[in-house]
Amino acid sequence: MAIDVDTLQKLQAEPEVAKLDLSWLNLTENGHPWGMRAKPGKRGLTLDEIEIGPVGEVPEQSTNRSIRARGSVPRNDAPRVPGSYIGRADVYSQNARLLYEEAVQRQWSSATDIPWETIEPLPDDIERAMCQLCTFLTEVEFIAGDAPGQMLPKINPEYYETKLFLLSQIMDEARHLDVFRKRALANGGGLMSATPGDVLRVIIEAKDFTEMSAMMHVFAEGFVQSMFRMGEYIGQNEAEKRIFRLCGQDESRHLGFGVMHLKHVMDTEPWRREEIHHYLDKCEEALSLGSSVDSDAGNYLVESLAILMGGGVDHFDVGMDRAMAVQRKRVNEYMHRLTVAGLGDRRERMYPLLRPFLDPPKN
Ligand SMILES: [Fe+2]
Ligand SMILES: [Fe+2]
Repeated sequence: MAIDVDTLQKLQAEPEVAKLDLSWLNLTENGHPWGMRAKPGKRGLTLDEIEIGPVGEVPEQSTNRSIRARGSVPRNDAPRVPGSYIGRADVYSQNARLLYEEAVQRQWSSATDIPWETIEPLPDDIERAMCQLCTFLTEVEFIAGDAPGQMLPKINPEYYETKLFLLSQIMDEARHLDVFRKRALANGGGLMSATPGDVLRVIIEAKDFTEMSAMMHVFAEGFVQSMFRMGEYIGQNEAEKRIFRLCGQDESRHLGFGVMHLKHVMDTEPWRREEIHHYLDKCEEALSLGSSVDSDAGNYLVESLAILMGGGVDHFDVGMDRAMAVQRKRVNEYMHRLTVAGLGDRRERMYPLLRPFLDPPKN
């Protein structure tokens, strides 16, 4: 193939070097902070240690519509990511950074941190009750991962701490799901009945972040946490007791986030009180059916707890008293958490099926 002279000269010539434009190196001169050093504290270089100076200030309102990280320089050509929250109170919780760091430090493995060898053959009724409880909890943990998962794309990078916390929670819930599944399959039993009705669907149908957090973190996970705290009486061996203990430790973080989020909303946007009561009305009605003997779903849960806590079907009455004590503990702890969040008036408005479990208010 013949190459004309012009093209040949061009090919032989030195390639043209584009003029360097290093203006990005000076971006920080435009009023952007420089020269601050984050130093590790007692717990290492945690988020609290790096969030100093202007980048550490979480804005009450954000103008950011892109994936720009808080503290970086905006660009006019950045594409929009629609649908994320632009108000701090929409997603904020004061303890998110701390809880995220704690979650990272306290991960555990269901494969190696549970003394599975301590599980020995159990009487059939007790094994079945444990398998039914584990089957129920597997569903609960599935929802507990999906509900915050749905919120992730709505978290503006301006409020990235909440996104990190939710991601850590999703990992926790994956482990909870797997540990209860493992227990169901570890001792000759297996998975039993799925939950009747759509008790848990109310959580996954939450559209707003605060709605999701009030229903899931404060109500549902609060109930689960109160049950896990009774794990010493529900577990039949060291493996099961350890499962409840470790899951309970994780749930404390999820709950802690939710209570402090709700408190932030109540402190900064008190006009949302009725809206939040509306969410609580909805979830108390739907979820309390799941723990009441007046429904199929509740029967499965309360009766399996009664068999486990009483020591078999032959001691059902004793077990039922203990299962009801768990219910009282759950409702009172729930009321206490709402009081901390600034919703003490819930006491008068609680769903009728739950109200009888409330102790009189302490003066
Ligand atoms: Fe969980
Ligand atoms: Fe949880």
